[in-house]
Amino acid sequence: MYFSPRLATERHRVVTQSDSNERVIDMFAGVGPFAVPMAAHGADVVAAELNESAVEYLLINAEQNDVVDNLTVASGDVKALSDSYTDWADRLIMNLPHSADEFLQTAVRLAGDDCVIHYYDIQHEDTLFEPGINAIRSAAEQTYTVSVETRHEVRSYAPHEYNICLDVRLQRRWFGNVLNITGIYIHEQCRCSSAGRAIPS
Ligand SMILES: C[S@@+](CC[C@H](N)C(=O)[O-])C[C@H]1O[C@@H](n2cnc3c(N)ncnc32)[C@H](O)[C@@H]1O
Repeated sequence: MYFSPRLATERHRVVTQSDSNERVIDMFAGVGPFAVPMAAHGADVVAAELNESAVEYLLINAEQNDVVDNLTVASGDVKALSDSYTDWADRLIMNLPHSADEFLQTAVRLAGDDCVIHYYDIQHEDTLFEPGINAIRSAAEQTYTVSVETRHEVRSYAPHEYNICLDVRLQRRWFGNVLNITGIYIHEQCRCSSAGRAIPS
């Protein structure tokens, strides 16, 4: 089970960005160091965690911090969440350095129309941010406009390697379609789905 008190400053930076009207999914919640304080801020939080022992401590943390009403614990693989929480999240936390990129398709499905992703990675000092930015763009750009709002080094991880975080905003692409029905032009606004299809709004 993973918990590092060295990330307290980073967690505080992220937690203080969330507000009480938000819907947050912590995709790799551990014992809840992001999810529990965000729920305490009033956000509606879903915390996914694969490790059963971590889930037990997460539930204890939720109860001790009196946030059970606005924290849903999803025990199991976060990929299973994407059916029930499609297009749902205003904020996604992806603290799974080394392999968060494998979950970007899931993240795109979970993201709502305007969603910030906090994406953690570990990279060599020569290419700290590019691999993550490229992976996010490649997963999301068909459906969303992708803006990198913050890129920063969280801490040194190994010689010449750093734990970094990207705060990336996804804003769903909207576009107009013109349908020609019996000679009358109807302008219909559509939005892009996660699968890249057009859905009439
Ligand atoms: C680096 S830890 C981060 C934990 C916590 N967010 C923190 O900041 O301390 C990553 C966590 O993701 C969990 N995890 C790994 N793969 C997962 C998956 N497919 N679905 C849900 N949780 C997963 C691990 O069990 C681990 O607790």
